[in-house]
Amino acid sequence: MKAVVWHAVGDIRLDDVPDPSIQDPHDAIVRITTSAICGTDLHFVRGTMPDMKEGRVLGHEAVGVVTEVGPEVRNFRPGDRVVIPSTVACGTCSYCRAGYYAQCDNANPPRGGTVFFGGPQSAGGLDGLQAEYARVPFAHVGLVPLPETVDDAQAIMLSDIYPTAWFGARLAEIGSGDTVAIVGAGPVGQAAVACARLQGAGRVIVVDGVADRLDLARRQHAEVIDFNREDPVEAVLELTGGIGVDRVIEAVGVDAQRPAHGPAAVTDEEAHRFDEERDAIAPDQNPDGDTWVAGDAPSLAARWSVRMVAKGGTVGFVGVYPPQVQQFPFGEAFMKNLTLRMGNCNHRRYIPRLVSMVGSGELDPTPLITRWAGERDVIDAYRTFDRREAGWTKVALGLDEHGAVAPGLGTGSGTGTATTAGGRAGPGGA
Ligand SMILES: NC(=O)c1ccc[n+]([C@@H]2O[C@H](COP(=O)([O-])OP(=O)(O)OC[C@H]3O[C@@H](n4cnc5c(N)ncnc54)[C@H](O)[C@@H]3O)[C@@H](O)[C@H]2O)c1
Ligand SMILES: [Zn+2]
Ligand SMILES: [Zn+2]
Repeated sequence: MKAVVWHAVGDIRLDDVPDPSIQDPHDAIVRITTSAICGTDLHFVRGTMPDMKEGRVLGHEAVGVVTEVGPEVRNFRPGDRVVIPSTVACGTCSYCRAGYYAQCDNANPPRGGTVFFGGPQSAGGLDGLQAEYARVPFAHVGLVPLPETVDDAQAIMLSDIYPTAWFGARLAEIGSGDTVAIVGAGPVGQAAVACARLQGAGRVIVVDGVADRLDLARRQHAEVIDFNREDPVEAVLELTGGIGVDRVIEAVGVDAQRPAHGPAAVTDEEAHRFDEERDAIAPDQNPDGDTWVAGDAPSLAARWSVRMVAKGGTVGFVGVYPPQVQQFPFGEAFMKNLTLRMGNCNHRRYIPRLVSMVGSGELDPTPLITRWAGERDVIDAYRTFDRREAGWTKVALGLDEHGAVAPGLGTGSGTGTATTAGGRAGPGGA
């Protein structure tokens, strides 16, 4: 089968690899009809998340159709249409039963951390979902069934992006009427606008430095701040009567960038400190011109988050920070009596409810998909997404049975189009 394979930092390829097979009685095999590229995948190619193994199939977001189940999978059968949660969890241990699927004791060795598809060895070393077929462990909880009313274009956003945004809003302890800042307007930050509102936010402010991503946030009627034009902390204070926001959702992570210009541009001393941070976090970098470039201010989004929240407020961190990140403005957070919550999303906890919300029309995630890419140009799509080019906010990968762009999945489907094109991505896709 075809799959996107990680070879080295700065080197991913579309390869032919063996089809996956059932290895454990609880496994299922899923034929992928739609997959997607995530900001998390970029960390592996930029070198800011370590411990990847050559040959690893990438990807942790997918929708598909079950083709085979192991003898212990009692709740699915071939032909079922499903969305796959990004993190892998057993559903049986005390952590899973309490809803902390990302800290499952059986998918990982105890104290081992989160397991997810297409990630580092320390995150389970499992092959991922940017492929024609995937093996899903613990399929009884590792698959969520989809109703006819939720098409691929909607469902692909429920694999990781919306559950993470929902989780981020929960971490931030958003309450009725709260003023919320979302730092980062990638797919997760964009999805957090709706999730924050659904959880009660009164006002939503979004910070990023990319014009078309800020446009997309403005189209969702968030108040936007461009960190290349304004100092985001000063701008938030101005918008909030000098108090700061009640809650922050940080949706940037380790590849945070410094402003290119404007009043928040870093001083020489700060630039030096950020260079040191980046080189300590990502000793192995392999940029290709302006592609696969590690973030040049790893702790900046976290610093801004701590500075723009009101004293006594809460910051929920969903932007990913790998273990080697040691820089955090602890003293500033301490002196403001902040509550800080963070981590990997417990996807399985939120996906069934989000599927219902989409099915009932309460939530429509499709406007966030700005590009569909077919299998043949998937590496190019990765590169364009990596450079945050205009119109490439969330990239879905549609495959038809010939491995080409499925009808209606062309690159022009465009922002804000509630496309049902994913439904044509193969039998069972509707
Ligand atoms: N916790 C989880 O379970 C989980 C799940 C999915 C994604 N993530 C993480 O969430 C983060 C966002 O994911 P995404 O897919 O939206 O990624 P993305 O790379 O598309 O988005 C990141 C955005 O942050 C912006 N940005 C860069 N520096 C900034 C700064 N200093 N201040 C404000 N914005 C800045 C970028 O311009 C970009 O729009 C990533 O770190 C990803 O790994 C975490
Ligand atoms: Zn993801
Ligand atoms: Zn478990």
